Amino acid sequence: MTDVHFNKEKGSQLKLFTPGPVHVPERVLKEMAKPNDTHRSKAYSEMHKMATDGLQKLLFTNNECLIFTSSATGIMEACVRNLIKEDEKALFFSIGAFGDRWYDIGITNGKISVKEGVEWGKAITTEVAQEALSKDKYSVVLIQANETSTGVYNPIDDVAPIIKDSGALLCVDATSSMAGVKIEVDKLAIDVCLASVQKCFALPPGLAVCSISDVAIKKAEQVKNRGLYFDFIDLNKRHVSKHQTPTTPPIPQIRALTAQLDFILNEEGLEKRFERHEQLAKRTRTWVHENNLEMLPEKGYESNTVSTIKNSLDLDISKMISMLLDKGYRIVNGYGQLVNKTFRIGHMGEIQLEDLGKMLDVLADIISELK
Ligand SMILES: Cc1ncc(COP(=O)(O)O)c(C=O)c1O
Repeated sequence: MTDVHFNKEKGSQLKLFTPGPVHVPERVLKEMAKPNDTHRSKAYSEMHKMATDGLQKLLFTNNECLIFTSSATGIMEACVRNLIKEDEKALFFSIGAFGDRWYDIGITNGKISVKEGVEWGKAITTEVAQEALSKDKYSVVLIQANETSTGVYNPIDDVAPIIKDSGALLCVDATSSMAGVKIEVDKLAIDVCLASVQKCFALPPGLAVCSISDVAIKKAEQVKNRGLYFDFIDLNKRHVSKHQTPTTPPIPQIRALTAQLDFILNEEGLEKRFERHEQLAKRTRTWVHENNLEMLPEKGYESNTVSTIKNSLDLDISKMISMLLDKGYRIVNGYGQLVNKTFRIGHMGEIQLEDLGKMLDVLADIISELK
């Protein structure tokens, strides 16, 4: 069999300090290697239910939770196709590359899409939200919790009530924050809260998950041309009646999700997990200042899961990344228009403070060498 490795030390894992895909623990990889039954078996349905029950706890919600064989972008497109009628307007808040992507999904699906943004590095504040919503009547509003390109966390707890007061459905892209940052779906009345699992869940890529409100399901019933693979109604019907998916899901991945949710909820504990992510972010920001660098995000809106750092020392970012890779660690360049102007350190998933400290020490030495 072909022997493919991603690391020079064959078989061992690279230490990924990336904003996804991230380091996957050995215990999760072992779960994935277990033999399978079919996706129509009782055993599968029981596992599927454990996963979706776990997602409800993670998101503080009684809404149904669905599992998709796709990455997060699939559910972003599903929101557009299932929830926006052809004569309705949708508002896409954008503070970076992934907000722009959601707006592009609206446009390419032929929906009446309006984009409201701020300069990259800034957040959608309550003032920005109020101003944007006062301009027109929107049936659906779509917004990132954490924008992974800029490392900005929108103040979603403050902005969500303003959006809901406008009467719109609220879709939140929590791709790089779900399972790392507390998001209380029912308290905020979020209609769809979505993520892929290769980030704060510390799972391999291949699955996306969301919570969905009854109101969103009812709305989808009135929307034409929802498509087949990402039809909320069909997915929800099969989930509620049988704890299954309409088409064949990646069963090993769903076993990994089930096991990891059990770990998150019952071994680490939610509050401890959120606290650890906060500490990782604080440690990274301290390092940034100690090394005479600057954060891109406006103060007070920095993400707890990914730090986007300005290239204020005019470093050769590609060289820095490749020197760090030689030491067994991967960080990433800036995204989109921020390439070489910034670099990003992901501190999400199962990364511990000690691991982060070791990587930051090595990176500081490399920066001194490059200066
Ligand atoms: C905030 C955000 N939204 C959406 C996506 C797209 O996710 P996926 O690659 O899982 O489709 C990403 C990926 O990095 C992201 O960070």
